[in-house]
Amino acid sequence: MEFHHKILVVDDEPANLRLLQRVLGQDYDVLSAGGGAEALELLKDNEVSLIITDQRMPVMSGVQLLEHSLTICPEAIKILLTGYTDVQSLIDAINSGHVYKYIPKPWDADELKLTVKRALETFELKKRNEVLLNDLKQALVQLEDLSMGTITALADALDAKCDYTSGHSLRVSRYAVAIGKVCELNDAELKDLELAGILHDVGKIGVPESILWKPARLTPEEQAIMAQHPVRSAQIIGDIPILSRAKLWVMHHHEYMDGSGYPHRLIGEKIPVGSRILLVADAYDAMTSDRPYRKAIGHEKAVVELRKNAGTQFDGKMVEALLSTVGEGGDNLKGGIPESFLGLKLNAIDPLQIGRQYQAESERLSRLAELEKRQEIAAAEEGTKS
Ligand SMILES: [Fe+2]
Repeated sequence: MEFHHKILVVDDEPANLRLLQRVLGQDYDVLSAGGGAEALELLKDNEVSLIITDQRMPVMSGVQLLEHSLTICPEAIKILLTGYTDVQSLIDAINSGHVYKYIPKPWDADELKLTVKRALETFELKKRNEVLLNDLKQALVQLEDLSMGTITALADALDAKCDYTSGHSLRVSRYAVAIGKVCELNDAELKDLELAGILHDVGKIGVPESILWKPARLTPEEQAIMAQHPVRSAQIIGDIPILSRAKLWVMHHHEYMDGSGYPHRLIGEKIPVGSRILLVADAYDAMTSDRPYRKAIGHEKAVVELRKNAGTQFDGKMVEALLSTVGEGGDNLKGGIPESFLGLKLNAIDPLQIGRQYQAESERLSRLAELEKRQEIAAAEEGTKS
């Protein structure tokens, strides 16, 4: 997939515009506008990958322009150039997801170029994800043995972008099948369980990265968005009759036994059996595989955690079923993870792609933290003055 990026730069100072043109014009196709209205006109006629705008402009501020631009080109990446004033509106703009990054003025040409490069990489990844998702939907519609490999590869690619760990959903599907066998599910159910495991988190592709990768606790609003991912996964699976049971299990894979899960707060055995199995398989794999940002806690601690939450979060029967196949000490996994019922292989994903996206996001978050700290200092100084 080849990209030819157009960048729109907006500033009311002609000298600043010329400077931006000169710095970015060597590598990209740059359009320029002297104000918000002119910028919006240009956006209507041009497909722009990135908008860089000054915040302080007469008539329409940078944040306002970026908000208006959402209806014309929601997918364009947005960068704000700003002085040190008006910190709160910047934080709001960044948190609302409209702004990828803000760059304090005066900016440094090399730093700007690097930020632009990263921003365009993010844009490309998003576009590629869209293509993956469409391919996946198509493969699901023509579901047959031949397209199973395609579905697996696509789901894994999407998965890796959300979770940084290639193979997570595939491993979940294997653990789920192993649990299903202990629970004596029939072959048709095992097949659905494996498919559900592969597809359970594809809906995460619709959750903003700022929430998916947030290193801190989610706010109630963020939790509500996160809680929609099983619903989105189910939507992606769609209304294909032979996938209806897998879809139901995917929809409820975050319901907890005590009714505190999501999306429907189902309780106990009201939660479909496949969903109760997926929850245990998902938690076990999450705890026993490394992520770039945290180490796995390992089998033994995972067992303690699963047992501790049996009855409230997990179905205790499923926890014990998992342990009976992987072994109390995890010994049965020495020869590899449980086998696939459908005969599918685990895929490998380019870790570089994923690493880059993670890096861009962690930079964005540290920038945000820096802003918040500055705001606190400013507030404290205000306090000592008065
Ligand atoms: Fe999930």
